[in-house]
Amino acid sequence: MKTLKLDLAEKSYPIYIGQGLLSKSELITKHITSKQVMIVTNTTVAPLYLNQVKGLLSDYTVSEVILSDGEEYKTLDTVNHIFTALLEQRFDRSCTLIALGGGVVGDMTGFAAASYQRGVNFIQIPTTLLSQVDSSVGGKTGVNHNLGKNMIGAFYQPKCVVIDVDTLDTLDDRQYSAGMAEVIKYGLLGNVDFLHYLQNNIDDLMARDKTMMIEVVHQSCEDKANIVTKDEFEAGKRALLNLGHTFGHAIENTLGYGVYLHGEAISVGMLMAAKLSQLEGYLTNENVDQVKHLLENSNLPISINGKISTSNFMKSMAVDKKVIDGNIRLILLKKLGDAFICDDYQEELLGKVVADFCTTKKLKRTLF
Ligand code: NAD
Ligand code: GLY
Repeated sequence: MKTLKLDLAEKSYPIYIGQGLLSKSELITKHITSKQVMIVTNTTVAPLYLNQVKGLLSDYTVSEVILSDGEEYKTLDTVNHIFTALLEQRFDRSCTLIALGGGVVGDMTGFAAASYQRGVNFIQIPTTLLSQVDSSVGGKTGVNHNLGKNMIGAFYQPKCVVIDVDTLDTLDDRQYSAGMAEVIKYGLLGNVDFLHYLQNNIDDLMARDKTMMIEVVHQSCEDKANIVTKDEFEAGKRALLNLGHTFGHAIENTLGYGVYLHGEAISVGMLMAAKLSQLEGYLTNENVDQVKHLLENSNLPISINGKISTSNFMKSMAVDKKVIDGNIRLILLKKLGDAFICDDYQEELLGKVVADFCTTKKLKRTLF
């Protein structure tokens, strides 16, 4: 097992990464502070892993909330089910919420933990590649609103993150690829050596070589932890983690949540960011092709397959947390492995990239 520390003074916490961790009760129990434990999961993950996790907690009073599965259920209404269960069962302020599932379950459980009685103990057990390399680490929690993705939420750090890569055995290929998008993001935004490693080993990674998966999850969490440690509340550098996200959120929002998986939307979004970076004179055509090939080799989409008008796309981009005083700030690439926050790009070049992607019909594979 590898252990990383996300260093945030008194809010610091360990990230455990390895195989077979869902049979090691002490990893979880040492972060639980009273007898009351609520596991929040969903209808897909519950039959796979709920009993295993409950089995680790025989000394506790364990309840569960099983949510509907899907990005479209990442709403305040769904979080309210968690509050109702906690209140009905008289959970007090010393209780612990455990998120068992992907990023949707993790974000909602974290938000419930941040708000219930103004904050209770919270543990992340992420079970998708995306949640293991990104969403379970760093304390962003929240829900979607019809008018914008992740627009309601809180920064709230877990007490620990337990990443058992064996849980990925049951994850389907499409979801695995979606997670690879966030992995590639770390290479593109700040770690060129990691980017080269991914380019050189993508076939083994897509074949799910376990040793490599552990390496990749570890490197991704380390890169994220390094950024979050320096900028927990996204006053600056943490925004780099949103590479491709302003574009990607607009794809998710305009096509409807759940049509493109989050990681798939981020894949297209990162390519759009690379293309704009090239038009702005930072990247070469060859660099953009390198990004495209790595995404394609990860079985990720590189174009928008669905009807979105350019104007709707632009409107949707304007409803984003990176927008300040009406200006859309974008994360662009100075070079591969070196992202920066840009608010002085040329509007017409952004318009060109959006128009090009909104009208492209080519896809490596069919998503629908
Ligand atoms: P998800 O939570 O919807 O999970 C994907 C699917 O896989 C679901 O159907 C889920 O039930 C299923 N699943 C989960 N674990 C499984 C397993 N081990 N075996 C089989 N099926 C399994 O999606 P996701 O990609 O994990 O997360 C996406 C969400 O994360 C989005 O809402 C996004 O906004 C959010 N996110 C948050 C952050 C953050 O910093 N908080 C970062 C990135 C993404
Ligand atoms: N996923 C972006 C962040 O955690 O900041």
